[in-house]
Amino acid sequence: MTEMKLESMGLYRNIGRVDADLAALGVGPDEPVRVDQLTSFDQFHYEGTAAVDDSAVALGLGPASRVLDIGSGLGGPARYLADRVGCSVTALELQPELHEAGQRLTQRAGMAGQVAHLQGDILDGPPQGPGFDGIVSMLCFLHISDRAGLFASCESALAPGGRIFIDDYFEIAPLAPAAAAALADVVHCPYLPDEATYAGHLSDAGFVDIELIDKSADWSAFVSARYDAFSGGRDDLVRRYGEPTVDELDTFYRTVAELFAGAGLGGARITARKP
Ligand SMILES: C[S@@+](CC[C@H](N)C(=O)[O-])C[C@H]1O[C@@H](n2cnc3c(N)ncnc32)[C@H](O)[C@@H]1O
Repeated sequence: MTEMKLESMGLYRNIGRVDADLAALGVGPDEPVRVDQLTSFDQFHYEGTAAVDDSAVALGLGPASRVLDIGSGLGGPARYLADRVGCSVTALELQPELHEAGQRLTQRAGMAGQVAHLQGDILDGPPQGPGFDGIVSMLCFLHISDRAGLFASCESALAPGGRIFIDDYFEIAPLAPAAAAALADVVHCPYLPDEATYAGHLSDAGFVDIELIDKSADWSAFVSARYDAFSGGRDDLVRRYGEPTVDELDTFYRTVAELFAGAGLGGARITARKP
């Protein structure tokens, strides 16, 4: 089980705002949508589709690949990967509201033949079936403190030789108590391993070729620019979503920007292979 009530996090509340985003693009409820119309708001990680492109290269994906996306959110990375690469993706999402919204967007995008949505907790084990060729997981593992259970599930999800691509947080230096509290309470990140500990968790689960790229500077710039753009567009967003939703998103985006501006929180891109 995941420890926190994730559905209370600002980014995950008021998911109906997707309809308002689509309406702003001239797309009515239940009308077909294109993947490229969704990408400005269905990527809940950093650096948008460029990060997903990086995952396809790192995992060596092609049209025959079978990919598991853990913590798929609205399904943005899963749809984009399937559309760009031609691979099939299983999108596993814990929160029922996000799962259902993602599944609906996939249907409207005509991608249901390539992207299968599952609602569930990765800690309960991976989907049954032949092993996946690759796992993508973007900004999900930061919500999960049981890394032994998590990486055991990931290892058993993969076929031999399969690779995992993770965007996640790590500890550069111990956080001050107020920052640690904000990270836990606002971002729902209850556990922050340092680089060596992170690699050790993966190694203990049987992964090899473990590589960690420090993305802290890039992500700090990204989340700072994201908050500036959000603040600058506040009046339009209030008209689109209503003030309570904008206030909740403001708290979330501001807190993330402040945490990355501090000395302790880092961002990492981690790749590893199942032998
Ligand atoms: C920051 S969002 C990122 C969503 C998506 N990866 C993206 O980049 O757009 C993290 C997602 O992980 C999901 N999640 C958290 N813990 C999970 C778990 N134990 N099993 C499956 N999904 C989980 C959350 O519900 C959330 O939708």
